[in-house]
Amino acid sequence: MSRSTSKTIYPEKPEEKDGQRNKEGLGDLPAPFAPLDLPPPDEYFQRKVALISGITGQDGSYLTEFLLEKGYTVHGIIRRSSSFNTGRLHHLYEDQHERPNKFHLHYGDLTDSTALVFLMARILPTEVYNLGAQSHVKVSFSLAEYTADVDAIGTLRLLDAIRTCGLTKHCRFYQASTSELYGLVQEVPQSETTPFYPRSPYGVAKLYAYWITVNYREAYGMYAVNGILFNHESPRRGRTFVTRKITRAVAEIYENKQACLWLGNLDAKRDWGHARDYIEGMWLMLQGLDGSEPTDFVLATGETHPVREFVEKAFGVVGIKLSWSGSGVDEEAKDISTGKVVVKIDPQYFRPAEVELLHGNPAKAERMLGWKRKVNFDDLVKEMVEADLTAVRNFVEDQN
Ligand code: NAP
Ligand code: GDD
Repeated sequence: MSRSTSKTIYPEKPEEKDGQRNKEGLGDLPAPFAPLDLPPPDEYFQRKVALISGITGQDGSYLTEFLLEKGYTVHGIIRRSSSFNTGRLHHLYEDQHERPNKFHLHYGDLTDSTALVFLMARILPTEVYNLGAQSHVKVSFSLAEYTADVDAIGTLRLLDAIRTCGLTKHCRFYQASTSELYGLVQEVPQSETTPFYPRSPYGVAKLYAYWITVNYREAYGMYAVNGILFNHESPRRGRTFVTRKITRAVAEIYENKQACLWLGNLDAKRDWGHARDYIEGMWLMLQGLDGSEPTDFVLATGETHPVREFVEKAFGVVGIKLSWSGSGVDEEAKDISTGKVVVKIDPQYFRPAEVELLHGNPAKAERMLGWKRKVNFDDLVKEMVEADLTAVRNFVEDQN
């Protein structure tokens, strides 16, 4: 058949279903590329199907446990890796026998739109949790462009996958926003109305992700919310974040497997909570808010502590008391009972621009979600040190 007589296969303007323009509030914008034959939202939401990016991370693993307990089917996106990256989910695989077909992992990547659209269309989630990110602030100074691609544009890709599949009214979206947005803080404590001033490529990428989430909510009427979460930790925290680096080192030093802990800025202050408490808050944000308009929330403890205090408390759990001396890069801490130096400063851990103070105000989440953190600072430190002591004694080298 000659080109001139062939039927047009790709129309210049996508066809629209009757009434779709008004129903979806799309105005003059083209309809999604691949509208699926979906039941009305009320019927669709009878299913409880979650899709999680970043499922292999600290928060992803706790969220998966939480949602499976609530009866959800959970789908997670994992990256191809030459080394094992599903260690935090290992115990859930074993549970497959008890909960068959409730937990599924799929290869994908926030840098790969095609894969995201494909997964969205196949899974038809009712809730999407975007936890995937290059999440290390210091590393973002070395991998600034990659961090922007994953953390900023990756969020756009995931939101657009929802739109492309015509799921804007069928699926709720959670964005893992961060207290790093406050950076050089403009107000103490920080709340949902505090102006942002990010201080790293990570913070700037997350600022884009924050605003594109707000924009899709306002432009397309999506139920899309930002959880602005302050630091949250656990025994599953990656070992290059300061809390876990400290607790693992305390366990190793106590068991005579390491001599000294090398750190950067001891004066930085953080509002540290337990990851498990924050997971519940993420879920609550997607549960309809009693009919109120979707909105963004801070999750925090409302307390702040310097890194130095975390160090002292962590050594305290194994009965080691510290005495500090020197200042700046020459500061160090000795174990009072042995006289050995157990903490020193290495400037390689300083950041080109630092976030000196984070201190959150969770009042809105407490009021509207009934959320409140349960684990206090001392119990968090104790749980992390004890978990690392067990791991060190059992020669467990987790990959986190
Ligand atoms: P995490 O332990 O570092 O986990 C990050 C997850 O993202 C991992 O599953 C990682 O996969 C995945 N990921 C990285 N690059 C990806 C890519 N290109 N495509 C798809 N997935 C990718 O972080 P977390 O502590 O659980 O935090 C979860 C989210 O909350 C992150 O977005 C973080 O920025 C944000 N956040 C965390 C905190 C906190 O204090 N923990 C506070 C505020 C906001 P691999 O396992 O393969 O590396
Ligand atoms: N990582 C690390 N390593 N941090 C150190 C060290 C060290 O040896 N020594 C001191 N610090 C200081 C850092 O300079 C920073 O001020 C503070 O400890 C906390 O560092 P991290 O634990 O790496 O966390 P973060 O606050 O930079 O970022 C985390 O929390 C954000 C929420 O506020 C990450 O989880 C981000 O993804 C998250 O958005």
